[in-house]
Amino acid sequence: MWLTSSASLVVAFSLSPSIIFAANGAVVAGRASEALLQSQYDSGQVMDSLMTAKMASWKHLSPQNYTSFNKFAPCVDGFVKIGKGSPNDTFACKNLDLTGFLTHRDLGSKKESTLIGSSIWGYTTEDGREFIAIGQIDGASFAEIVGKGPWNDQGKPEGSLDYIGRLPAYSVPSLWREIKGYKNYAIIGSEAVGHGIQIFDFNKLLEVRPDSFSNATKVFNKDTDAYHFADLPIGRSHNVVNAEASEHIVAVGSLPRNDTCGAGLIFIDMKDPSTPTKTGCAAGDGYVHDAQCLIYHGPDKKYEGTEICYGYNEDTLTIYNVTDKTTTNVISRVTYEGAAYIHQGWVLDSHNQAFLLLDDEYDEYNKTGVAKDQHATTYIWNISSLEKPVMTGYYQSPVVAVDHNQYVKNMFTYQSNYASGLRILDVSSVPSDPTGAGIEQVAFFDIFPDDDAAPVADFVGTWSNYPYFKSGHIAVNTIERGVFVVKRSENVDKGVRAEF
Ligand SMILES: *[C@@H]1O[C@H](CO)[C@@H](O)[C@H](O)[C@H]1NC(C)=O
Ligand SMILES: *[C@@H]1O[C@H](CO)[C@@H](O)[C@H](O)[C@H]1NC(C)=O
Ligand SMILES: *[C@@H]1O[C@H](CO)[C@@H](O)[C@H](O)[C@H]1NC(C)=O
Ligand SMILES: *[C@@H]1O[C@H](CO)[C@@H](O)[C@H](O)[C@H]1NC(C)=O
Ligand SMILES: *[C@@H]1O[C@H](CO)[C@@H](O)[C@H](O)[C@H]1NC(C)=O
Ligand SMILES: *[C@@H]1O[C@H](CO)[C@@H](O)[C@H](O)[C@H]1NC(C)=O
Ligand SMILES: *[C@@H]1O[C@H](CO)[C@@H](O)[C@H](O)[C@H]1NC(C)=O
Repeated sequence: MWLTSSASLVVAFSLSPSIIFAANGAVVAGRASEALLQSQYDSGQVMDSLMTAKMASWKHLSPQNYTSFNKFAPCVDGFVKIGKGSPNDTFACKNLDLTGFLTHRDLGSKKESTLIGSSIWGYTTEDGREFIAIGQIDGASFAEIVGKGPWNDQGKPEGSLDYIGRLPAYSVPSLWREIKGYKNYAIIGSEAVGHGIQIFDFNKLLEVRPDSFSNATKVFNKDTDAYHFADLPIGRSHNVVNAEASEHIVAVGSLPRNDTCGAGLIFIDMKDPSTPTKTGCAAGDGYVHDAQCLIYHGPDKKYEGTEICYGYNEDTLTIYNVTDKTTTNVISRVTYEGAAYIHQGWVLDSHNQAFLLLDDEYDEYNKTGVAKDQHATTYIWNISSLEKPVMTGYYQSPVVAVDHNQYVKNMFTYQSNYASGLRILDVSSVPSDPTGAGIEQVAFFDIFPDDDAAPVADFVGTWSNYPYFKSGHIAVNTIERGVFVVKRSENVDKGVRAEF
């Protein structure tokens, strides 16, 4: 979004008008309503209505006493059944088996009335143990995905979840808890006022569980077991981002919008993780909802080796040169017809940043643009020129759902599509066919059976997933139930590229 509330910030660089693309890549002429719409984004009105819609959805979730099923269950004839196999325990699936499931309660959340999950991220130790940090309403929960290594000398089931402990929320409970990784640290932000960013060393889990003979758990102390970074305007952030190449993390969406950092990119130096310090911010395009920060490698030779952030800024995709952390240096700012809430995205290939995939969180819900049929829609951008990104096409899921967070690995994108669960798409065709026509859904695990009879484009189901473990285990955090671990089925459908 474009910050209009403080004129002095606007002149930090010269703005070229955003180009608006139709989903088929054509440039759309005429955009009379842009100014009006822009003010709705700039004021935070759109973000507020999105948060209100989510809270309304979550109100309907009566607290359920779900039961953990922490072992292998194969996908048979399109379903994984757990427990007694009641409708709430029957999950539609394709090419993925369940290896473990723990409820939020069994993952240590003590907020009985509202067991609600959000983000998730993972960490692999030097000897290959796999840990996850799980966002819950009252804090971050930590678990191990039991692996095959020498430390598993008790033969705990591979792929099951082993709860190890939790870091309580810094201030008050919040539905919004975002977690990313930075080296061996979990970085934890929240929309809660006063929360700041918690920086937790994953290796502390090894002290609790040096080997599998111990079943110890620990509630960590929020003041002494984690660093508390407090230098955010009012402690809130919408998300936290890894910028490891320059030894930074980045807080985004740190309200208020009229702060000097404009809720944009706030850079935090992590050279010494025991004393993280704010080095500056990029306020010039205002509120940033999410971002991916990388050293640029790709076709746009002028930028080779430059530190870039791809900002998902509500009404625009905004690409920044973030070499200088004390100012805003926008390379481009683009949008498309029907853009409702540009939420998150990921580059297709970090070694050759020629394309990215973008998700819009409000287009299906609000039936805008090509998402008017409410099928989860992924937008494809050719970023071969960072100065002139071009939307080249889109992909629509076979099912109605809102798409939320996605992460790309090995030319597959792993999407947490709320009520339709984890969806894995083979996107290897994009560089040769950027219209998206060759994208194929190769696997899914639908963690929200409640809507199977009548799929909903609503903010229920899975918030996020972590697909980067070498073992192939994919951890899926859900709003209602808990965390599911899934893995590629041994016998995948014929004709499917199966390296997911
Ligand atoms: C869930 O279990 C708790 C504790 O056993 C109980 O107090 C509560 O009423 C149950 N909730 C529902 C919806 O069954
Ligand atoms: C399944 O979940 C719904 C709410 O999503 C609840 O109303 C219903 O009672 C549950 N059914 C069973 C068998 O647990
Ligand atoms: C730890 O838990 C496992 C499985 O739940 C059990 O078999 C084992 O005996 C426990 N170990 C200790 C030291 O309590
Ligand atoms: C910034 O916005 C808040 C509301 O979010 C308001 O209370 C405050 O007065 C504003 N500050 C300035 C300097 O405009
Ligand atoms: C990126 O920003 C740095 C610092 O402002 C600047 O020196 C450099 O020229 C920029 N790179 C490009 C390709 O514009
Ligand atoms: C959502 O739809 C409503 C009603 O049509 C409209 O007023 C609003 O501007 C839309 N919001 C977005 C973000 O598209
Ligand atoms: C991507 O865009 C560049 C121009 O920026 C163009 O040269 C290239 O052909 C495009 N790639 C594809 C696959 O369309």
